[in-house]
Amino acid sequence: MLILGIETSCDETAAAVVQDGKKILSNVVFSQVEIHRKYGGVVPEIASRHHLERIGEIVQEAIDTAGVKFADLDGVAVTYGPGLIGSLLVGISIAKSICFVHGMPLLPVNHLEGHIEVLWLGQEEIPLPGLALVVSGGHTTLCATSGPGDYKLLAKTRDDAAGEAFDKVAKLLGLGYPGGPVIDRLAKRGNPKAVPLPVARMSDGSLDFSFSGIKTAVLRYVQAQEISPHRGDPDTAPQAILDLLASFQSTVIENLLVRVRKAARRERSASVLVSGGVACNSLLRERFQDLADQEGFSFHCPPPGLSLDNAAMVAAVGGRLLREGHTADLDLNAVPNLGFGI
Ligand code: KG4
Ligand code: ZN
Repeated sequence: MLILGIETSCDETAAAVVQDGKKILSNVVFSQVEIHRKYGGVVPEIASRHHLERIGEIVQEAIDTAGVKFADLDGVAVTYGPGLIGSLLVGISIAKSICFVHGMPLLPVNHLEGHIEVLWLGQEEIPLPGLALVVSGGHTTLCATSGPGDYKLLAKTRDDAAGEAFDKVAKLLGLGYPGGPVIDRLAKRGNPKAVPLPVARMSDGSLDFSFSGIKTAVLRYVQAQEISPHRGDPDTAPQAILDLLASFQSTVIENLLVRVRKAARRERSASVLVSGGVACNSLLRERFQDLADQEGFSFHCPPPGLSLDNAAMVAAVGGRLLREGHTADLDLNAVPNLGFGI
């Protein structure tokens, strides 16, 4: 079974071909990060224009690299939500065109399911039931899963996503966009205990996340200590900024860890899966592995190229949808606020 996946929900224009729900034959990603950097974040109108300019060649490259022809495909999977409406519509339109021309099924994919199901593309055995945490620029979502396609929502963020907090703190300190990779690198040289920051707890006992409090605490600290945004090369940032970054990063990760520990005990989870852009974070990977060793569950995380937005994850879900007979009509529309889990 050959599935073409197409992903354009945010600022990555991506296409991939996956064989039999396991083998990635091609995985082409054009990141618009450089384009959005000068605005300090993704500009939706610019994102959709660039998707439109690039999508044709990216899809062709995915097909050529995989060494297949459009007619060989068994279906086209496309992200239809959640995401930016103009961006989503570019991917949906090209997916529909291919399906119409070649008379093949259109497979409607939820972006968050893609982030999780990319883990089943790997060769690792994942013990079940599991917990899946998606941590990206747009989402912080925790669910219980008994396997691909079964997701019980346990918690989500009540305000900012974890990646959004990384991006906002980096912007505040003059370190550019996106914030995650630069904070990951600089925090290695800082003291994570230097600045006490709050670990949010919900008074109603829910496992929901909240990151706006940490972001505000960083802002207050910067104002109180009169720390100016750093100009020039981020690697020359002063020690006060490095310490603040290390403290911020470790607090965000602590926020994730306490909830995952609680949920894993409650759900008797045999595994924890973490995916999405923030799952690239080196401290996060270390701390989750430590937690897994202490608590006795296995920890699974995709390699960085499959943690960030990509289309192999979309094709992975598409293969399952096709097996389940879950196809869409050619009037499929984008659903920017598409929900997730039950
Ligand atoms: O999954 P993704 O590519 O896009 C969304 O679906 O949002 O995630 C992008 C997010 C950005 O907020 C970026 O700052 C964050 O992932 N990120 C990281 C790291 N690499 C990317 N956050 C922390 N540490 C990293 N190494
Ligand atoms: Zn994503």
